[in-house]
Amino acid sequence: MIELETIRPFFEDKKELLAEILNRYPDYGRRSAVMPLLWEVQRSERHVSEARVEEIAGILGLHATEVKGVMSFYSTYHEQPLGKYHLQVCSTLSCSLAGSDQMYDWLVEELGIVNGETDRDGLFSLQKVECLGSCGTAPVLQVNDVYYERMTRSRCKEVLAALRRDELPEPWLERGGDNVSAEKAQIESES
Ligand code: FES
Repeated sequence: MIELETIRPFFEDKKELLAEILNRYPDYGRRSAVMPLLWEVQRSERHVSEARVEEIAGILGLHATEVKGVMSFYSTYHEQPLGKYHLQVCSTLSCSLAGSDQMYDWLVEELGIVNGETDRDGLFSLQKVECLGSCGTAPVLQVNDVYYERMTRSRCKEVLAALRRDELPEPWLERGGDNVSAEKAQIESES
């Protein structure tokens, strides 16, 4: 007899969170909640499986294909699991001119994976992305939610070595005041 695996719904034990997200939108615009719902799943499970797509579609009264349509439009959502550390290399013009192509090639060599892949251990995944909105501090590497700016080969090596030790290093202070944790780190290192 085949035993069917049942997957517990993601939002089953997150009723408050679900209500908070849905309440951000009027009833007629409830479908807009698809983005934050997808994001909650993506952040927690590092991908959005078919079952989660169905669940979100059910919550919002959408077709699964509509949810998938949103997923395919944004580089944020993934059908396959990302690595624990998801490395995103900006490949748009400012970063490309400042050396992001070489940074990408170096990461490919170091990690043994290419754009869109996750390594066998599930530690790293690599993705080329469009402008990360920090063109003035190109080239930019984003690791999970952290921006590493004005990347050089030595900074890249430093970041990768730290990640391999399972440490997410503090970013450098590059944006003049809007990077609070980096600013704090710099002040502490100078005192
Ligand atoms: S071009 Fe890379 S952050 Fe804008």
